Amino acid sequence: MSETYRAIELPAYNTNLIKAMLGMRLTEKTKPLPGSSQLLIRMEAVQFNPSDIAFLQGGYNIVKSLPCVPGFEGCGVVEAVGSDLNAADWVGKRVVCFTQQDKDGTWGVYFVAELHEVLLAADNLKPEQLAGSFVNPLTAWGLVSVALQRQSACIAINAAGSQVASWVIALCRQQGIKTIGITRKTETLQRLSETGFDGLVSTASENWERHFNDLAHELGCTTAFDAVGGELAGQMLNNMPPDQELVVYGGLSGRAVSGIDFMQLIFRNAMITGFNLNDWIALSEPDEVNEAYETISRMIAGQDTDPRIQSIVSPEDFVKGIRTYLGDMSAGKVIIRF
Ligand SMILES: NC(=O)c1ccc[n+]([C@@H]2O[C@H](COP(=O)([O-])OP(=O)(O)OC[C@H]3O[C@@H](n4cnc5c(N)ncnc54)[C@H](OP(=O)(O)O)[C@@H]3O)[C@@H](O)[C@H]2O)c1
Repeated sequence: MSETYRAIELPAYNTNLIKAMLGMRLTEKTKPLPGSSQLLIRMEAVQFNPSDIAFLQGGYNIVKSLPCVPGFEGCGVVEAVGSDLNAADWVGKRVVCFTQQDKDGTWGVYFVAELHEVLLAADNLKPEQLAGSFVNPLTAWGLVSVALQRQSACIAINAAGSQVASWVIALCRQQGIKTIGITRKTETLQRLSETGFDGLVSTASENWERHFNDLAHELGCTTAFDAVGGELAGQMLNNMPPDQELVVYGGLSGRAVSGIDFMQLIFRNAMITGFNLNDWIALSEPDEVNEAYETISRMIAGQDTDPRIQSIVSPEDFVKGIRTYLGDMSAGKVIIRF
């Protein structure tokens, strides 16, 4: 009889997240064999990200054939490789994986990866530390590279309680770039008071735009990173000093970027651009990505960032895990430990 393994399966997308989650199930699948240039990975840990939530709702730019196992990243140990790969280089090694292909993702005990979807993990890091060590830290790396190219003395970032933002602060600190964080909740702002932002603003406060405008001008904030969209994106752009750039990299509000003062575009040289990790990786030299990942691994080991894991759940409790994560996203990531 063929061997099976447990995986979380999505049978249908649903814009109603509760319905999407209730339709999902922990299922038994036939254990795959790696193709000639593939790796079979025994997964250890994965984390929930906003892109996973949008994916379950059918609202992400990646749409897969269904049913499928969700999950764009995670970590595990290579159990077997195909005939084109040297087993001694891989078998028994811990790797991090990142995939957006139309195939089963990482939320299962096994994941079949292409060579370009894995990186060797540092020996001194635990699975919980590695589960989310690829997408968000490298996104922060790419965003901070934009600020460096623009020689910005200071950056602003909304959804400041996010994992991406905590990496942005850590990387900016290394580069001597000041940071302004914007949150939507006063509680999140209070939680962040000790995390190293040079300025913090909550959109829940009256006159927050005035306060942000003062800080942005005082600190020379000419680059802003937007994960929210809607009118907040326009408000950030409008309140920064001239030659400002708003880099849109997320759409947490689900609303179109709006409220941009055309005078900023015409007379103050304001710019709006987008950032997507996949494109950044495709446009970077492989050595640059590897070097970035090595630095990130050293920073995780050196506790240069606040990892904020709020809960670790078993695969059986994945729905509870997603609910815990969505109940308080700034409290930290929820990890599934296989
Ligand atoms: N473009 C790319 O390549 C790329 C790659 C990676 C990540 N991202 C994006 O980066 C963003 C952050 O991801 P993450 O994993 O770091 O997040 P996370 O750690 O899960 O945290 C999410 C944060 O977003 C805040 N938030 C949620 N909905 C919001 C809304 N409508 N308005 C304002 N704030 C809101 C939450 O704050 P409170 O609930 O405390 O208010 C929380 O701090 C996401 O938009 C994600 O899609 C983009």
